[in-house]
Amino acid sequence: MYPVISKTTIAPGISRLEVEAPLIAKKRKPGNFVIVMPVEKGERIPLTIVESDPENGTITLIVQAIGKTTHIINKMEAGDHFIDVVGPLGEPTPIKNVGTVVCVGGGVGTAVIYPMAKALKEAGNRVIGIIGARNREMVILKNEMADCSDELHITTDDGSYGLKGFVTDALAQVIDENKTIQSVYTTGPLPMMKAVAEQTRKFELHTMASLNPIMMDGTGMCGACRVSVGGELKFTCVDGPEFDAHKVNFNELIQRNKTYFNQEKKSLDAYNEKCKTRGANV
Ligand code: FAD
Ligand code: NAD
Ligand code: FES
Repeated sequence: MYPVISKTTIAPGISRLEVEAPLIAKKRKPGNFVIVMPVEKGERIPLTIVESDPENGTITLIVQAIGKTTHIINKMEAGDHFIDVVGPLGEPTPIKNVGTVVCVGGGVGTAVIYPMAKALKEAGNRVIGIIGARNREMVILKNEMADCSDELHITTDDGSYGLKGFVTDALAQVIDENKTIQSVYTTGPLPMMKAVAEQTRKFELHTMASLNPIMMDGTGMCGACRVSVGGELKFTCVDGPEFDAHKVNFNELIQRNKTYFNQEKKSLDAYNEKCKTRGANV
């Protein structure tokens, strides 16, 4: 059992949870994720370890409610328990001092880019952060990203905060103004990562994308998370989650992530119905 120590809502539908998991907190490196199971008869889902505190034995997760399992997690409160938390999983982000790097996070993908940006800054890089959200309310980790960025650009789709537009609009400006960028890191919705990859390909700018396929076991056994990278089959959970964005077949991944759309919708509808009739987190 993994107790929730604290829980806060940081944006509509997005929660930050501090979870007791001492062994994971001790071993975790930036870029690692966990696979969690909030309830006994539920599914297991992957979540990035945003931060860890080895002294207190806790890890921090940021979760956006989109389907049944993330809705269940978002309703958890301090004192509740995860049935299982497995990790740290995945290859950590290779962190080197390369000079100037750009870290681009879209929506809740900002929770994935933040630990990478922080580690890249601590390694001595000049970090240019770009984070985007639909509107002002949905911008997350603004202060944390500001703390680890030498410059931070914020975009909102509706212009209610920062630059009006997508993260790719800010990235175009940043590339235009900085001729010494060595690497770009990106996480967020798949169409966004695909757009970032197309943009940086023109400038032959090395770009890494942290992918979010469907996962099950997280140990390279089931094949659920397979992706095509440079024509080769890779398992995101053990070979990734970060890959050379210019080699990722994003169209295939976008298609694969829609595989269970009808079942996921049915499952969320049934869960919401049960919550209405039987209350709380059934
Ligand atoms: P499902 O029942 O699986 O339903 C998801 C459905 O929502 C799908 O049909 C999909 O098409 C649809 N959908 C996808 N994106 C959106 C959207 N933005 N708005 C509306 N619908 C959408 N998520 C986090 O919140 N925080 C993290 O730190 C995080 N880290 C991840 C790290 C890795 C390595 C991976 C692979 C994924 C990560 N994710 C993270 C994504 C998270 O695992 C999924 O959101 C989760 O598995 C969804 O489970 P569910 O049961 O709630 O939804
Ligand atoms: P969203 O739809 O609100 O988009 C966030 C931002 O991404 C937008 O404000 C915009 O700046 C940018 N963006 C979106 N579509 C774009 C496009 N076509 N071109 C250029 N920029 C674009 O995002 P959300 O609802 O917060 O969802 C976040 C997504 O991140 C989800 O799909 C989720 O599955 C994914 N995610 C990925 C990871 C990962 O490990 N890579 C982890 C968590 C979540
Ligand atoms: Fe099963 Fe990666 S999640 S192989």
